[in-house]
Amino acid sequence: MNDPLMSTEVIGETREHRECARTAEQPLARTEFPRALLPFLRCSLDAGQLKVSGEARSGSVGIIEAALQCCTCSAKYSIQDGIARLMIQGVSAEEEHEMALRDREYAGPGPVQFVPPSEGWRSEFSDRLEIPSHLAALAPLFGSLVLELGCGDGRFTILMAQLGARIIAVDFSINGLRKVASRLPLGLGPTTYRLGTV
Ligand SMILES: C[S@@+](CC[C@H](N)C(=O)[O-])C[C@H]1O[C@@H](n2cnc3c(N)ncnc32)[C@H](O)[C@@H]1O
Ligand SMILES: [Zn+2]
Repeated sequence: MNDPLMSTEVIGETREHRECARTAEQPLARTEFPRALLPFLRCSLDAGQLKVSGEARSGSVGIIEAALQCCTCSAKYSIQDGIARLMIQGVSAEEEHEMALRDREYAGPGPVQFVPPSEGWRSEFSDRLEIPSHLAALAPLFGSLVLELGCGDGRFTILMAQLGARIIAVDFSINGLRKVASRLPLGLGPTTYRLGTV
């Protein structure tokens, strides 16, 4: 496969994380927002296309730090730590409450070791109930591009990536996205965005 986003290295990286317990001394892999996924990002105000207006740091497949600007209304956004930041002001009190709850839920040291299906489900009954049926409904995922709304800390994201999908993983919890990104730093497009904005 030539596409670096789809390469087995990406999937292999997850396996590697699984097989080698990470020690405190090992640095976290840098997350890169894939260049190939940039054209799918849209302005939270008017759905205008976003362009990179200044690039500070990048890696082999994507951008780590950059300024983004809407081609229609010139609103400014950014990519920080490989995560596209498309949140804007005007979050309701209810949403703010949910964001704080999710940020707390997804906070903590990462990357947490991810248990793939072949070795048993991650935890609860709900995983067994929900995950196989959802993944079956989405098959075949290999080679597909997925927009995942409300990805949380990546319960479905990582599995879809392991099955060969490229994913724009959207959530308004920055801690959820940090966790997703730490589990799979290459090949995903983690994006903070408030659903229902446009
Ligand atoms: C029930 S959790 C599901 C998380 C994940 N898909 C899973 O299965 O574990 C819903 C997720 O949607 C996110 N969310 C809820 N409302 C949102 C909104 N308006 N915009 C962006 N994300 C939202 C929350 O932060 C949370 O991570
Ligand atoms: Zn705009």
